[in-house]
Amino acid sequence: MSHHIVIIPGDGIGVEITAVARQVLEKTAAKAGLALTFEEKPAGGTAIDKMGVPLPEETLAAARQADAVLLGAVGGPAWDQVAPELRPERAILGLRKALGLYANLRPVKVSPALADYSPLKPELVAGVDILIVRELNGGIYYGEKGSEKDRAWDTEVYSAMEVERIVAVACQAAKVRRGKVTSVDKANVLATSRLWRQTAGTVAAKFTDINLDHLYVDNCAMQLVLAPRQFDVIVTSNLFGDILSDEAAVLTGSIGLLPSASIGDGTGLYEPIHGSAPDIAGRGIANPIGTVLSAAMLLRHSLGEDEAACRVEQAVEAVLKDGYRTADLYRPGFTKVSTMEMGRQILDRL
Ligand code: NAI
Ligand code: MG
Repeated sequence: MSHHIVIIPGDGIGVEITAVARQVLEKTAAKAGLALTFEEKPAGGTAIDKMGVPLPEETLAAARQADAVLLGAVGGPAWDQVAPELRPERAILGLRKALGLYANLRPVKVSPALADYSPLKPELVAGVDILIVRELNGGIYYGEKGSEKDRAWDTEVYSAMEVERIVAVACQAAKVRRGKVTSVDKANVLATSRLWRQTAGTVAAKFTDINLDHLYVDNCAMQLVLAPRQFDVIVTSNLFGDILSDEAAVLTGSIGLLPSASIGDGTGLYEPIHGSAPDIAGRGIANPIGTVLSAAMLLRHSLGEDEAACRVEQAVEAVLKDGYRTADLYRPGFTKVSTMEMGRQILDRL
């Protein structure tokens, strides 16, 4: 069986890092006897320049039909002045909406080779391996909003169905991890959180071997820096997940290392958590690892190729252990490599 992958390089470093990830997918596929086909499509600022819109119809149609989408990043100062409905970020929101992507998966794993790159003490972060599952399609970002001259409001609405499906994603993920799910809410003050807490309990009870606990979001923010190793899977709302996932991301030492997956009803979307890094774009120095690990998530979640995904993750770990570093992680005594050279080192170990 053949799988079709749409690659959206986007803007800035997106072009350089998706090129590396594509090579990694090609080599992994060849080794595993998988048939993959690729198609590159425009989105973001480059699409605005060429076609007048951030998310061209042909890109959306290709994404809908694909088995998975791998995206670099979109945006940059060149498009900061365009009208709000034409901004490059619209491409990502448009894709999320069109593909029904309601679950955002953000793994935060501290590589043993990089424990002393964290702003926290190595003994606190060594062994950290967290998966944050953020609800992506509802909550306060999508509720009714309004403003008057000196008053403004946003409303948070969650239905039981929306909570059920995201908690089910978290429990499913925990089953093949350490079996622990921490549901994060603010049930002492928010009605949506009380529904969230109750629903999470009902859903988790249907899974065997899942240990569910609940934490208030303020406490969770504190625990993430006090004792991050206590967490396995964290599941939370759109707003809380946005904030907690960025907080957790800094535990690893570089934004260039972290992957993400957005999954739901349709095609899954995979992208590094960072942006288009206009300050270093076009210089061949960006760290491609976040995108390569996003490709591993693609293999696992959209193609069901867990073994191939593990092989990619092991190759990345081996390169870091052997001392190869892109500029964002470089320190004297290590081997400084370009984006492409980092890619070649990963390919070698596959
Ligand atoms: P950014 O993530 O692009 O960059 C922040 C800092 O991290 C910069 O110093 C950059 O050089 C560095 N960095 C990021 N990725 C790196 C990598 N792979 N290797 C080495 N260094 C890396 O965030 P920023 O500067 O706030 O945004 C730049 C543009 O990207 C903006 O237009 C923003 O809207 C867009 N953006 C797009 C996202 C997406 O496509 N999903 C997400 C975040 C921002
Ligand atoms: Mg954010």
